Amino acid sequence: MILDTAAKLCLAVLFLLSLSHHQIFARGDADFLDVRTNLDRDRSGKRGDPKDKYFHESVFHPHYDGRFAATQLGKEDRLPHLTALMQTFLATMADIGAETWIMHGTLLGWWWNQKILPWDSDIDVQVSERTIAFLAKFYNMTEYHFRLPGVKNGRTYLLEVNPHYTIRGIEDKLNVIDARWIDTETGLFIDISTVRANYTARAEGIEGALMCKDKHHYLERDIFPLRDSFFEGIHVKIPFEYASLLEEEYGKKALTLTTYEHHKFNTTSKLWEPMKNIGRPARKRPPSRRPPSIPVP
Ligand SMILES: *[C@@H]1O[C@H](CO)[C@@H](O)[C@H](O)[C@H]1NC(C)=O
Ligand SMILES: *[C@@H]1O[C@H](CO)[C@@H](O)[C@H](O)[C@H]1NC(C)=O
Ligand SMILES: *[C@@H]1O[C@H](CO)[C@@H](O)[C@H](O)[C@H]1NC(C)=O
Repeated sequence: MILDTAAKLCLAVLFLLSLSHHQIFARGDADFLDVRTNLDRDRSGKRGDPKDKYFHESVFHPHYDGRFAATQLGKEDRLPHLTALMQTFLATMADIGAETWIMHGTLLGWWWNQKILPWDSDIDVQVSERTIAFLAKFYNMTEYHFRLPGVKNGRTYLLEVNPHYTIRGIEDKLNVIDARWIDTETGLFIDISTVRANYTARAEGIEGALMCKDKHHYLERDIFPLRDSFFEGIHVKIPFEYASLLEEEYGKKALTLTTYEHHKFNTTSKLWEPMKNIGRPARKRPPSRRPPSIPVP
């Protein structure tokens, strides 16, 4: 009996060590001096932002965190960094048992080839209220170091939770992003937003009404039960009604049109390839295409 407990404890310790995360002991705001890595100057837009805004996008691009980077990456460099950002995030959330699913442009990328769209510079994921509370309580400001193929010394990612996550309504316009998964080398990040129950709508009889601070609203049956699939080679969760959610957000054509943003979808390689003759009008014939086959839970 005692041995059994000791063995369990040992396993628990090993598991925690294998995660290799640790708290940064920072008081107050996670400002530049608390978290800085190698920059001598803060490029977060903090000074220009309203006082109540928690996350500060960089002064040079809204999809970078200026506490960690001074410039944008080149286009060629950005995609592999975003891919690693996504993979490390999904692996970490699975490790700590935090349920998350992809949405918006990230879900559209999944629809086509289970990859990030090469012209995207951001990644969007969602979590439930229970999950954001769990992340805030146990994992705020935790760092995760990953050894990555071809990356000398690996890379460190930071999970930061917005203290405004407890404010549920859309009146908190400055804080629609509840948490971020940040690449501390490049400043690129994943936006994590919470999907909450809309009690007002439910009281009016809309069963399972959900809302987001970014004004998107859903029904429980649009998202749940989540489906299992793969994204960038990692296990991912997908909202149940993925096709109608995508159609509603981007229009029916976004699911069939194979030329977009100066890219053409190669149906053989299943990759979005850059178009050589930029300036030529895009071909408008939407080819028929079956949705990707995924196991239905
Ligand atoms: C997370 O930690 C940062 C830095 O200490 C702090 O500013 C922020 O309020 C914390 N977030 C939550 C949800 O407690
Ligand atoms: C919640 O539902 C009500 C009633 O349908 C709606 O007016 C309100 O905008 C919704 N809230 C959010 C944040 O979507
Ligand atoms: C599409 O991909 C295939 C396989 O990689 C390749 O052989 C072919 O040349 C590509 N087609 C175009 C139009 O680039």
